[in-house]
Amino acid sequence: MKKIFITGVNGQAGFYLSKYFSGKYDIFGCSKDDFSYNKNIKYFQCDISDVKKISKLINGIKPDIIINTAALSNVDECERNKSLAYNVNYLGIQNIVNSIEHDEVLLIQLSTDYIFDGRKGEYSEEDIPNPVNYYGETKLMAEEYIHSQMDSFLIVRLSVLYSHFIYKENFFDWVYSQLNNEKAIKVVIDLINTPTYVYNLFKGLEFLIEKKVNGVYHISNQEKVSRYDFAIKIANFFGFNADLIKKVLSSEINFTAKRPLNTTLSIEKIKKLGYVPLNLEETFNDIKKYLE
Ligand SMILES: NC(=O)c1ccc[n+]([C@@H]2O[C@H](COP(=O)([O-])OP(=O)(O)OC[C@H]3O[C@@H](n4cnc5c(N)ncnc54)[C@H](OP(=O)(O)O)[C@@H]3O)[C@@H](O)[C@H]2O)c1
Repeated sequence: MKKIFITGVNGQAGFYLSKYFSGKYDIFGCSKDDFSYNKNIKYFQCDISDVKKISKLINGIKPDIIINTAALSNVDECERNKSLAYNVNYLGIQNIVNSIEHDEVLLIQLSTDYIFDGRKGEYSEEDIPNPVNYYGETKLMAEEYIHSQMDSFLIVRLSVLYSHFIYKENFFDWVYSQLNNEKAIKVVIDLINTPTYVYNLFKGLEFLIEKKVNGVYHISNQEKVSRYDFAIKIANFFGFNADLIKKVLSSEINFTAKRPLNTTLSIEKIKKLGYVPLNLEETFNDIKKYLE
């Protein structure tokens, strides 16, 4: 059986990827914690910014595929703690790339819509990045490093990843739990994305692996929504009171990091290969299984 090594396996993407690929691949994972939420994998505690540890681990496992999901993914925290963001989001991938000894290893790097400045929207893989915050900068530096060093790679950009994930709150779970408890929430109307349901991410990754393609791909749902629209759709689908959702502008929120306004992703490139993601309603139907 082929081996997949997933970094950041206790995070939202890492956890669900490790579950999905179990049985299809031999799964190895690492994160900073001394335990793994998924008990059915071979788990190692390892900080990817520790060059000696990560390179020893990769050389011991000898994976066929490495999926790097480890990141400082909190955009405001990256602005407040730039050295940590640099070490995890940039040096971490350098360490991984430099530990790969064989050309046959496929490196998959999860990247972000936040490498774009958000002035245009509907970004294709060919559009020129221009990050407006440090998170976006570090993720772009990581992409550029992979381009300069590797032949066999996939850089997969996603946007507002969501699922029902009990270990770390995401936008979906925050909206769901607040409305479920009949609490009013303020949600921004001018930040527009194409959210990515975890199932669409792992099906998309599996699709690209099977197609044996290389390069940069966008994976997200097709629907373009503001955070406000997204919250309204959650309320309507799950039968909550949508009047609890109040519109605000991003300028009214005290974000530490600047936000790009419209970072919707075009997924035409992967669709042309035959990939069809679930639509928003289908993703909510899928999530229902996990909420019960
Ligand atoms: N979430 C989104 O909306 C979104 C959107 C676009 C792109 N992405 C990208 O998608 C990827 C996965 O995102 P996610 O939502 O799954 O993030 P996440 O839930 O924050 O998962 C990242 C995991 O990496 C771990 N980690 C952090 N620093 C590490 C280090 N130095 N060494 C090893 N592990 C480390 C984190 O541990 P701690 O939690 O203990 O820090 C966490 O378990 C990231 O590359 C992110 O940039 C995410």
